[in-house]
Amino acid sequence: MTRDLILIANWKMYKTIGEAADYIDKLAPEVEGCHAKIFLAVPFTAIAPAVLYAKELPFVIGAQNMSDAKEGAFTGEISTLMLQEAGAGFVLLGHSERRRVFQESEELIHRKVFRALQDKLRPVLCVGETFAERNEGETEAVLLKQISSALKGLKEGEVQDLILAYEPVWAIGTGMPATPTLAQESHVYCRNALAKLFGKKTASHIPILYGGSVQPENAAVYTAEEDIDGVLVGGASLDPHKFAQIIKHVVGKK
Ligand code: PGA
Repeated sequence: MTRDLILIANWKMYKTIGEAADYIDKLAPEVEGCHAKIFLAVPFTAIAPAVLYAKELPFVIGAQNMSDAKEGAFTGEISTLMLQEAGAGFVLLGHSERRRVFQESEELIHRKVFRALQDKLRPVLCVGETFAERNEGETEAVLLKQISSALKGLKEGEVQDLILAYEPVWAIGTGMPATPTLAQESHVYCRNALAKLFGKKTASHIPILYGGSVQPENAAVYTAEEDIDGVLVGGASLDPHKFAQIIKHVVGKK
């Protein structure tokens, strides 16, 4: 099964508009000709300018969050239409920082995924267990629960654009990445969970990325695994040179 190889930079709450322009200027020449899908999840304010700077370049610019509502009196929120008009081509949903720091519930994440798919904004659904859950032997059950609750009610034909990201909470920003074997095992749990919902064939088409302390030195060991279709990079993606190294390592290997 050949699935797209996807690399996502998650800038989190870093980079002004000016810094985004400088980043794209530096990243572009380094990754010219690399055969991978390169996604940049940038702050809301940088979406439209980044789309302009990246005009002739093969980068997909996206958002890190959005509202579950279409529009309305929701001070401080942003809609799919607004993101699409700015040029966003994808949105991260259910990131562990959104779940933990902003107390996003599984129900809310479900509504956001549903909204994104309905409005044709490609969702990247992030899932992952905590350290305690892993120690309790609950990883598989936690992943199944997060995936089935986010995707409940959706049909096979409605999830063609979905991307999944497995990001163990204990590996995010800690410098303690999962071993490739452990990540591959969790990716199989994720793919099985998708197969339960949508059948094996559909599940085999959905890209699943690994995220959590990915660096230039370890990126390619993940994508060498059968069920790991790319990486979602936080800290190391903030430096265009480092992110370019990650892209080059991954592309060279797969
Ligand atoms: P990290 O973050 O690469 O800094 O661990 C990953 C993420 O938060 O998506």
